[in-house]
Amino acid sequence: MSKINHFLLEYKYLSIIIAIITNGQIKREAKMGLISSKGLFKKALKEKYAVGAFNVNNMEIIQGITEAVKEEKAPLILQFSAGARKYAKHIYLMHLVQAAIEDIGIDVVLHLDHGEDFEICKACVDGGFTSVMVDASKKPFQENVRITKQVADYAHSKGVVVEAELGRLKGIEDAVSVSEKEAILVNPDEVEEFIKRTNCDSLAIAIGTSHGAYKFKGEPKLYFDRLEEVQKRVPDYPLVLHGASSVLQDYVKICNEHGGKLPGAKGVPEEMISKAAKMNICKVNIDTDLRLAMTATIRKEFDENPSNFDPRKYLGPAREAIKQVVKHKLHILGCAGKA
Ligand code: G3H
Ligand code: 13P
Ligand code: ZN
Repeated sequence: MSKINHFLLEYKYLSIIIAIITNGQIKREAKMGLISSKGLFKKALKEKYAVGAFNVNNMEIIQGITEAVKEEKAPLILQFSAGARKYAKHIYLMHLVQAAIEDIGIDVVLHLDHGEDFEICKACVDGGFTSVMVDASKKPFQENVRITKQVADYAHSKGVVVEAELGRLKGIEDAVSVSEKEAILVNPDEVEEFIKRTNCDSLAIAIGTSHGAYKFKGEPKLYFDRLEEVQKRVPDYPLVLHGASSVLQDYVKICNEHGGKLPGAKGVPEEMISKAAKMNICKVNIDTDLRLAMTATIRKEFDENPSNFDPRKYLGPAREAIKQVVKHKLHILGCAGKA
């Protein structure tokens, strides 16, 4: 073979190898869109903002959130509850998230919200999640330590991070005695020991929020003194705020005007969320506000256009409403522009 032919043959093989590597790279980068929250929390702590953790159940919700995050250049945690996982099925969720990563070109922390026991946490670790929450906060302290440590040991061996919880996400106003109130709010004296013994990577603390659309009967109140106390004990440690929806009154009104029944729905004022985000709260959980935006939009569409039966004509506007709510939230949390 002449020298020139030899060169051309080598060039051909080299090109094939480069093409394979490049292709592989494209594929790997898409997969690499699933990230851990470790780096996100480190930056959030240093720069004093919180990352939004949004609950998802279907394609439109994922699309609304990821489009908002892309436009606002924000970091993102997408979280699935056990109920969401049962509703949509694990395999659909994984593919929907992967599709969003490839379509929108963002990084996503894929997180299990409120994993009740070791089994569900293990299933999510094995199934490709990058973060899991083990919520044994209803159990006595020692039992919470035991379950959280079991999950953390397993998750860490697979490179997955773990969120745990101390205190109870229950309406504080329902407490009738001082001891009941103490059982609901986080006990700062337990925090250091809990983290040391379980090795969990972040901790949700109960400071007066609760899940759903009815968070306060009277004036909203969060126990910022507890948060300060916890911060003093674990200064460089990422804390999490659950039940952090503001129950946006515009959407409550639309729901109620179009056949809904949500009298007196009330959430956490946005100034309180921003204040917590500037402290050591690095992750803020939001579900109710997305549900309200979606439901209000669909109710209005049904009411105003009763002859419409094309799902795209009510799911499309609902997706857009979710996008606008998320964009707004990212500014409240201070994480817009921090991706
Ligand atoms: O914290 C709970 C989230 O809002 C998820 O609720 O269990 O009804 O999906 P879910
Ligand atoms: P909200 O009900 O306030 O949206 O809280 C959601 C949550 O904490 C999910 O874990
Ligand atoms: Zn929660």
